[in-house]
Amino acid sequence: MSLTDESDYKTRRRFLTSLGVGTAAAVATVATVRHLRRPRITPQPRIAGFASNDTFPVKRPLTSEETVLRFNNFYEFAADKRSVVHHSRSFRLDPYTLVIDGLVERPVALGLEDLESMPLEERVYRFRCVEAWSMTVPWVGIPLASILARAQPTPRARYVTFESFFDVSQAPRQANDSYPWPYREGLTIGEAMNPLTFVALGMYGRFLQPQNGAPVRIVVPWKYGFKGPKSVVKMTLTATRPESFWHTLQPTEYGFTANVDPTVPHPRWSQAHEIEIGSWGRRRPTLKFNGYGDWVAHLYQR
Ligand code: MTE
Repeated sequence: MSLTDESDYKTRRRFLTSLGVGTAAAVATVATVRHLRRPRITPQPRIAGFASNDTFPVKRPLTSEETVLRFNNFYEFAADKRSVVHHSRSFRLDPYTLVIDGLVERPVALGLEDLESMPLEERVYRFRCVEAWSMTVPWVGIPLASILARAQPTPRARYVTFESFFDVSQAPRQANDSYPWPYREGLTIGEAMNPLTFVALGMYGRFLQPQNGAPVRIVVPWKYGFKGPKSVVKMTLTATRPESFWHTLQPTEYGFTANVDPTVPHPRWSQAHEIEIGSWGRRRPTLKFNGYGDWVAHLYQR
């Protein structure tokens, strides 16, 4: 590993190392209480005209919007979850374009208005971070398969890479080249085309706030949260497996597949349980595939 920003890395490492499930609860709930005292976040406009898709029941209470807005992982802005909201507050990608290229019949550049004119759905998904905390969020957006169809992937396309924005003027942490910016993640084409894989433009009925990945983020609910990049500007279809941000930094800790699995511990902590953020420490057993096995287990059968 060739990290020059040692202190940052150590902060994250210390946090992760200390993340026994009990302490995760304390961190999450204390964070929530602190944030309730902070100044109000200006609400984003409401999204009009989305249908509710109840195909994927979560059997859990929704996490409060306030909690989801103030407890974030977004390394471009801060390593401390509680300050992401502050450091990202003026972040805008305007004008915004989503490029889909690579092994496609028809490369496309979609504006926000193109995405917003597609049929929008609300889906409530369980969300599980690799750090052993979880939340339940009503996303508003579009199945990824419908967006990729606009570019018509060729039969040679076996993977999709997602690339987040790169703009040092808005995210000065991206000037630190010991991190492999921009943030990238990838899926197999089968995972990308699975009906669960979602492109969120909003949550809680409103457009995404910067700290949650505005204007467009990927949500893959049976995988750990790092597989869902925020503020995505490009999707590239390839024949070979792409490299990704956390895998490049720590290959033994953040694998490519990264399916939620209680029986596969992270090298530094157990994944058997999780703490619901904003719940005053409710601890639950982790579900294999985060409870979405009926929809995705077939992808991994040999
Ligand atoms: N996307 C980018 N571009 N940068 C990041 O640091 N963090 C990931 C993921 N997507 C991250 C990212 C991780 S580790 C998690 S858990 C989720 O975003 C957190 O999403 P949230 O802050 O909306 O809860």
